[in-house]
Amino acid sequence: MTLLGPDRTGRPVVRVAAVGDIHLGEDCAGLLRPAFETLPGCADLLLLAGDLTRHGTAAEARVVAAEVASIGVPVVAVLGNHDHHADEPEEVVRVLRDAGVRVLEGESTVLPVAGHKVGVAGVKGFCGGFVGRSAGEFGEPEMKAFVRTARRSADRLAGALAELEAHGCAVRIALTHFSPVPDTLAGEPPEIYPFLGSYLLAEAIDAQGADLAVHGHAHLGTEHGMTAGGVRVRNVAQPVIDHAFALYRLPLDGRSAHPSEASPPAPVPARYGLG
Ligand SMILES: [Fe+2]
Ligand SMILES: [Fe+2]
Repeated sequence: MTLLGPDRTGRPVVRVAAVGDIHLGEDCAGLLRPAFETLPGCADLLLLAGDLTRHGTAAEARVVAAEVASIGVPVVAVLGNHDHHADEPEEVVRVLRDAGVRVLEGESTVLPVAGHKVGVAGVKGFCGGFVGRSAGEFGEPEMKAFVRTARRSADRLAGALAELEAHGCAVRIALTHFSPVPDTLAGEPPEIYPFLGSYLLAEAIDAQGADLAVHGHAHLGTEHGMTAGGVRVRNVAQPVIDHAFALYRLPLDGRSAHPSEASPPAPVPARYGLG
């Protein structure tokens, strides 16, 4: 772990690298590795916000694992919907965990950074939509099951964030694949917003508190957003950030400051293609 110096204002910070929706296929081996190998010089941890594979196969997961194995900073991930498509998410998780990735689903992890605790609470999340235009738990069993899936996911995120509070973390980060807010979906067709995220995730974040919320999934969306409670939200889907990863600096000595953006040093390789 890199010991942090102060930022320009003299405050100690944690440097968070984050990217989602890298959608690696079996033909993508080595594409992001050169960029990820720069992480020890510029970041203290890497967050992967789901859709790491194209179709959720174990073979694709092995490509992802090789990109991030032993890169010199802790790697924390959630899965995305693509990582479930082959109906073997347990195998994807096993492959990633074997490579040292901390894969979270309704769980939390705490990292020591410069004498402080940095906590990440992670869950894939689910669909459902946003206040005023959300699916309701009413009618057919299928509809109720759909909405309950979103509610259970938000409840698990709330539980994981509560664990970070109990640990006394200086910085708490909510990591999801689906979006907690509509702000970061700007650019996507409004008709599909209900399939891009759920306001229940934002309610969990605001109820428990967090210093940053990071998500992916909305390839045509916008990087910056905020929950109703004032928690900064960042959509780090790779087509949005247009770099191998985004970098955010968060103060370690208090929760009032907002994350500051740093210039990512590593553009997406030119021959990189999204699945
Ligand atoms: Fe994606
Ligand atoms: Fe997705």
